[in-house]
Amino acid sequence: MNELVAKSVAQLRRRLPEATPELAIVLGSGHSGVQSRLKVAAEIRYEKLRGFPVSQVQGHAGKLLFGRMSGVPVLLLCGRSHFYEGLSMSDIAFPIRVLAQAGIRTLVLTNAAGGINPRFRVGDFMCLSDHINFMGANPLRGESVPHAPSFLDLSQVYDPRLIRLVQAAARSVRIRLHRGIYVAVSGPSYETPAEIKVFARLGADAVGMSTVPEAIVARECGLRVAAISCITNLAAGRTRSRINHAEVLAMGAKAQTQMSDLLSQFVELYSRAAEAR
Ligand code: HPA
Repeated sequence: MNELVAKSVAQLRRRLPEATPELAIVLGSGHSGVQSRLKVAAEIRYEKLRGFPVSQVQGHAGKLLFGRMSGVPVLLLCGRSHFYEGLSMSDIAFPIRVLAQAGIRTLVLTNAAGGINPRFRVGDFMCLSDHINFMGANPLRGESVPHAPSFLDLSQVYDPRLIRLVQAAARSVRIRLHRGIYVAVSGPSYETPAEIKVFARLGADAVGMSTVPEAIVARECGLRVAAISCITNLAAGRTRSRINHAEVLAMGAKAQTQMSDLLSQFVELYSRAAEAR
């Protein structure tokens, strides 16, 4: 695994025109609009990087863009793989290990999620304050990484300084942003209303099928992590209507401009906030 990561890092580095990337943003379903805010200096398809999983899910492109946003060297990952596609946790974690070895210091994860908290409306955003891993698997299982602790502390997965920057960015671009707890499920089916009731009792505000494995591995690699959910639908049983993937994608697409505004304003604030870097 470590050799494959090193190979992929070398392939990535060869394709980067300059500078070490500092920040990477993983774009979930339909959030690729932020591409237009990046001065693209390199485009690398995931197939060109050994070991990089390529998502089969509609709405997930498979490419990496490098460029500058507000002067910060940024990598955008357009598309991600999911546990429900049948990949292993280490496949899902692979790109994060590559990014970390390529030198990034900060990782921003985005996703689509179902709103559990009754105050949440479709089209709102949520900055993760914490998560509940309900996927039934942990990406660190069976992975021995030199110099990494065997039992990783997860008492502060999401960096408070980055959360503050996301909140400040949301205020300045006038986006309704909550702070809350994300529960990750393996999918691919959506949840039952009974499950959502349980998750609400456990303290979850939103539910989704990604982000948590990447966040855990990023912490193992020592990266600072922030994660933002777009509430694309109300969770099962929170509304009379049924949930379908096409609607989740359509809502994600509709929220794309807001997500792009939020992310580019975040990077702008990040570029000025020396203590967050
Ligand atoms: N449940 C799980 N994952 C999701 C949902 C949901 O309601 N919406 C978007 N991703």
